[in-house]
Amino acid sequence: MQIDPQQQPAATSYKLLTNLIVPRPIAWVTSVGPENNLNLAPFSFFNALSAEPVILGFSVGRHEDGRPRDTAVNIRQRGEFVVHLVTEDFMPAMNISAADFPPEMSEAEICGLPTLPSQRVAVPRLADVLVSMECRLHSHQALGPNTLILGEVLLFHVADALLGERMHIKDWNPVGRMGSPATYCHTQDRFEWPRLSYADWLEQKNTD
Ligand SMILES: Cc1cc2nc3c(=O)[nH]c(=O)nc-3n(C[C@H](O)[C@H](O)[C@H](O)COP(=O)(O)O)c2cc1C
Repeated sequence: MQIDPQQQPAATSYKLLTNLIVPRPIAWVTSVGPENNLNLAPFSFFNALSAEPVILGFSVGRHEDGRPRDTAVNIRQRGEFVVHLVTEDFMPAMNISAADFPPEMSEAEICGLPTLPSQRVAVPRLADVLVSMECRLHSHQALGPNTLILGEVLLFHVADALLGERMHIKDWNPVGRMGSPATYCHTQDRFEWPRLSYADWLEQKNTD
């Protein structure tokens, strides 16, 4: 079947896109609002984009009534934010923080999540998550009604338990978002598939 997104409502394309491109990581973002309130919300249109400079990106849509989501407003105003990664123990809080609270309410407080001051940005970070990244706004771009936020990571916070000489990858199990609206996956089921150079490929081909 072929589907032309121009020929169907955006909501149908959204469902198709978000059910096809899976699993997606979840950026759980703190930002500071106009009244200095701390905002927290999850975004799964999210990924790592560059290691030099260190850039991550996520896309923020609008509320159903057309208002821009608080995260986009705050980041455009303040130019700073913190991205946290979500492990399963934080699913209940992550889910509550996605509710459409009024801008002046702090989702972190509502969820009972303690925060700490950040070091490189004025936006507090969640104290108990395993990984957080302090970010400065690199640039933003309108994509129709959405705002693509690109952030430069100024400081990583990674729990000591995850780091030795190398990262303990097997102990790092952030959840993934599967089909919308509310399906997720674990990330423990892994397999190795070594990369090939062209020379490796030629050698393999000639020995076949
Ligand atoms: C797992 C998950 C992922 C989400 N991903 C996105 C996303 O990528 N973009 C978006 O605009 N909203 C996304 N949402 C919805 C927002 O989190 C929600 O609208 C939230 O209220 C926005 O908060 P804010 O107005 O404080 O920014 C997601 C919700 C959940 C539960």
